[in-house]
Amino acid sequence: MPLSDPSAPVLAIDGPSGSGKGTISRAVAGQLGWHYLDSGALYRGVGVAAGWNDIDLADPAALVRCTFDTRIAFSDTPGGEPRVLINDVDATDELRTETAGAAASAIAAIPEVRSALKERQRAFRQQPGLVADGRDMGTVIFPDARWKVFLTASAEERAERRYKQLIGKGVSVTLDGLLREILARDARDANRPVAPLRPADDAVRIDTTGVGIDEVVARVLAVVRG
Ligand code: DC
Repeated sequence: MPLSDPSAPVLAIDGPSGSGKGTISRAVAGQLGWHYLDSGALYRGVGVAAGWNDIDLADPAALVRCTFDTRIAFSDTPGGEPRVLINDVDATDELRTETAGAAASAIAAIPEVRSALKERQRAFRQQPGLVADGRDMGTVIFPDARWKVFLTASAEERAERRYKQLIGKGVSVTLDGLLREILARDARDANRPVAPLRPADDAVRIDTTGVGIDEVVARVLAVVRG
């Protein structure tokens, strides 16, 4: 793994699930021609690997071992579709499931897992710059990021976005069930003792409720371009 380049500029984009972070961060990285770190995919990747190995989510020591043993690599298809490989197996679709998200959220509360993933995340800091997407990019992983953005949206709107996404994929879910899951995950991510989800003091907050993707991308780019 390459060493991080501390002179490379970082834009940290944090926020709760469903705030549009992934879509916005990817688009902003594309526009700037910068690297992109999907830190949630690392936690999800460990969650998926734990499932493959029948590891109990209530066994922190086994989960820490699993974190060290799991290789997670990002690549694009020739058509530009992002793919995630776990131990050389393409797990892109499995990574996006609610099961993987719930496992990631449980695993993300273990301090040793978080510290095991710290350097892997920092290694993405390379020239010409990095857009880092997650929960603690601006607070823990890149506290010296040049720009910090915290994206929010109402829980109802986040549930609705997720509902449309899943229904579009033919997955059968209810809006009510998704809203409950989102509220539970928010509470778990915000109340855990290590790296809880909260905006960095110097983050620019952008509420995306009722705002289209292009407009949010433009607002984030305006933060970077001043
Ligand atoms: O962004 P996401 O939904 O892919 O993240 C999945 C889970 O991983 C989320 O519930 C919290 C955790 N996570 C984290 O604790 N820190 C990060 N930087 C990214 C994700």
